[in-house]
Amino acid sequence: MPRDEERTLEIPQDARRRAAFLQRELARHGRLYYVEDAPEIPDDEYDALYRELIELEAAWPELASPESPTKRVGARASERFEKVPLSVPMLSLDNALNEEDLDGFLNRTAPWAAGGYVCELKIDGLAVSLTYEDGAFVRGTTRGDGRVGEDITANLRTIRTLPLTLSDFPRGRVEVRGEVLLERKYFAVLNEEREERGEPLFANPRNAAAGSLRQLDPAVTAGRRLSIYLYSVVAPERLGLASQREILEWLSRSGFPVQKAWQFCPCGDAVKEFIAAWEKGRFSLPYATDGVVVKLDFLGTWSEMGSTSHAPRWAVAFKYPPEEKTTRLTDILVSVGRTGSLTPVAALEPVTLSGTVVRRASLHNEDELRRKDLRIGDLVRVRKAGEIIPEVLGAVAEVRNGTEREFAMPEFCPSCGSPAVRLEGEAALRCMNRASCPAQLKEGIRHFASRGGMDIRGLGERLVEQLVDKGIIRTVSDLYRLQADPVAGLDRMGQKSAENLINAVAVSKERPFSRLLAALGIRFVGARGAEILAEAFRDVQTLSNAPEEILASVEGIGPVMAASIRSFFAREQNRKLLEELAELGVRGALPAAEEQPGEQGSRFLEGMRIVFTGELESLTRSEAETLAKGAGAACSSSVSGKTSLVVAGKEAGSKLARAAALGVRIVGEEEFLEMIRSGRTS
Ligand code: IVH
Repeated sequence: MPRDEERTLEIPQDARRRAAFLQRELARHGRLYYVEDAPEIPDDEYDALYRELIELEAAWPELASPESPTKRVGARASERFEKVPLSVPMLSLDNALNEEDLDGFLNRTAPWAAGGYVCELKIDGLAVSLTYEDGAFVRGTTRGDGRVGEDITANLRTIRTLPLTLSDFPRGRVEVRGEVLLERKYFAVLNEEREERGEPLFANPRNAAAGSLRQLDPAVTAGRRLSIYLYSVVAPERLGLASQREILEWLSRSGFPVQKAWQFCPCGDAVKEFIAAWEKGRFSLPYATDGVVVKLDFLGTWSEMGSTSHAPRWAVAFKYPPEEKTTRLTDILVSVGRTGSLTPVAALEPVTLSGTVVRRASLHNEDELRRKDLRIGDLVRVRKAGEIIPEVLGAVAEVRNGTEREFAMPEFCPSCGSPAVRLEGEAALRCMNRASCPAQLKEGIRHFASRGGMDIRGLGERLVEQLVDKGIIRTVSDLYRLQADPVAGLDRMGQKSAENLINAVAVSKERPFSRLLAALGIRFVGARGAEILAEAFRDVQTLSNAPEEILASVEGIGPVMAASIRSFFAREQNRKLLEELAELGVRGALPAAEEQPGEQGSRFLEGMRIVFTGELESLTRSEAETLAKGAGAACSSSVSGKTSLVVAGKEAGSKLARAAALGVRIVGEEEFLEMIRSGRTS
């Protein structure tokens, strides 16, 4: 077998240059699309570049670095989903960015506005189209390029508020459209988890919703807690609907979630009042909105006014100006991350932005700080990216009075005092004292106990802080040696909460091997990587002894991850930690058959026979059965020896008793939904 360098020499210069160009360009377009939401090229052009790169990398695998866009799950690869032509194009909306634009729209539409307008909030999500046949949800697509969408039916099915069957359904085919979104609180949690795993953050809820819907594995989508709101019906006249008001009312009556804020506005002034009222009011909503969609109410006027190639003339999207404020930069603090990276953080005079008080904002790294030329004491402009992540835009340099102080990153770790080192090729400074830096230990424990890791409930930031500062915990394994006594004496703790914590720690011993791996925080090993490793190597012993080439040969584990895993297990300290954990009963539970996500996580109930009994709260019986069947189960109405599972709602009667007598597993509605969400039966 030729050595690496020899094979590398065989790659033609042209191919090497072209691959590097494509990797750079695709990464740039991916970023424009997802992070900046400003794509420069249409999907099919992107797809063509993407395919070309795949082919080049297939021909010369050495060209495929782990950083290549082709190695990224969730990249902008639209060709992963089947394309479906849309029955009626999904248009965009023209924007009104100020009062003048809005007046322009109101004036243009005035001759048609005798029937008034409907104002709705513009939801910051991803447009989708849903098709129902005889009342059953059969297909859902993204907007794609507006003419051809992507089939994301399986992923849409996992959205809990999306009705799978319609109440009082109309015969034949009905197509409705709306927006899938991620509520602020779930967005924040999702990004926190991503940060903990070292995965790139979503810039706003819209990108998070898009990224979640474009997952190949519906089980991943299911874990993201998306919501949906509908606002339009294709061919509404077929249902006898004559206005936008009637459309929204029909949607609500049929069981679709519809935003509550919409309002009929008889004239332009009423439209302006609506817009003014929601400028501040929108921050109390659970989801982010960046504007108001104003539509002529009467459908007859829609066809009269018509559309341009990209947007209807009878509607406009009024965009609120992004809320930007100035405040004082009172200090620049340095936080120490789990891997020792030092991050400058702005301490701000408290300022209310998009409805919450902001006191801190990450300044990312030293280069960023220089680029923005920030000085302590500066008046700075701040805003929230995607209305959620606080960001310092820059200083108001004109009002400096000479008392402002420049800031330099420290030469020593602020937590343990070890030298801070800038490693080659990295933007961040790093504290190299992995063994005993308290800040790294705190972050490491937080990561270990986080939801994507060992999921130790009740072990919050303040508690970790105290446990480490008081010397109760010196390594991660000390968690499993905790005694109630010292814990009960800590701030805001008592005997009961201490016991709860110790129970939660004990419960975490049963987490599967993949979670233990994710919890360890091995660089470059996120949730997906951990799952792949757990499946391939099954236990710590085998994994820790696997040579680098074997690791790298596993599909989904590139050379960078392989090297990182090797160097993790090469460290005596890490081996010792794993030994200690094993002695304490933390080995990573072996993946039992049903704990594996089923085929694609979607047919995980294959072969099971399920009986529903009693009254379900959040679903109708037929919705529940559709969900079960969608996951591969058969449903029947009576309990027998062949029944594998009974889902019992309220006031379940004789079937429940029979199931109990036969020893059939019985679960409640919530547990059943959790199974559907997680793609697992336990
Ligand atoms: S109506 C013919 N109503 O905004 C276009 N769109 O900027 C019909 N959007 O593509 C769209 N909230 O994805 C409409 N209440 C709402 C909306 C809404 C959000 C999105 C939609 C559209 C985009 C245009």
